[in-house]
Amino acid sequence: MKGIILAGGKATRLRPLTLVTSKQLLPVYNQPMIYYPLQTLLKAGIKEILIIIAPDYAGHFLHLLGSGKEFGAKFTYEIQEQPKGLADAFIIGKDFIDDDDVAMILGDNIFSDDLSEEINTFQSGGRVFAIKVPDPERYGVVKFDQGNKAELIVEKPKEKIGDHAVTGLYVYDKRVCGFAKELRPSERGEIEITDINNKYLELGELDVRKVPGKWFDAGTFDSLLEASNFIAEREKGKTKR
Ligand code: TTP
Repeated sequence: MKGIILAGGKATRLRPLTLVTSKQLLPVYNQPMIYYPLQTLLKAGIKEILIIIAPDYAGHFLHLLGSGKEFGAKFTYEIQEQPKGLADAFIIGKDFIDDDDVAMILGDNIFSDDLSEEINTFQSGGRVFAIKVPDPERYGVVKFDQGNKAELIVEKPKEKIGDHAVTGLYVYDKRVCGFAKELRPSERGEIEITDINNKYLELGELDVRKVPGKWFDAGTFDSLLEASNFIAEREKGKTKR
């Protein structure tokens, strides 16, 4: 399985912090933000990782992460010129993915769970991870039927359809590149990963797994602070033991 970290974007909500460097390099307690999604992939044994970045601070990423050798992995970099949407990762990453399965994680997403087994037991189709959140309207939201089976995923729903958000870790088979290529931009001008998920759902091949732990999308001042506090507590708990 290959890995992709999507770490481009404009990060307008974190200005002026992101006028200095990229969002994904800002500190979350004692590590740069991108270390957390990177560890999620490394823990799962993924060794070939494509890091997709915006042009602005590309050098900062290289300076921090380098070839990947230090992490026991091999990093490849691609520039995303414009933030065209999350599904663009599979257009930019097509040659890198080649004939393999892929786990794509957002560079500002932090999971408290070890998802290695969830990643490693993947066989085909798509697998995504849903978590109950207080503010589902900010995310892709899963509508479950009465049998608790995922029925539909709606991007930023205006009316409440459920409280489980699709988090920023997605595992797909290689067909994802073809599906991404067929997408048309949504009203907000992005090619949506939600459309890819609905494609796999239609085929009856999307496995939506509820995960129990904590999840942070550290893209706002409050969530960045919350994530930092969570990690700080966790680290201090480790040293106490
Ligand atoms: P967002 O938080 O939705 O977008 P953003 O980072 O540009 O922030 P803002 O809304 O404050 O302007 O993106 C989620 C993650 O995905 C983040 O790590 C950036 C990344 N991303 C890309 O790399 N390329 C893209 O085209 C998009 C839409 C996001």
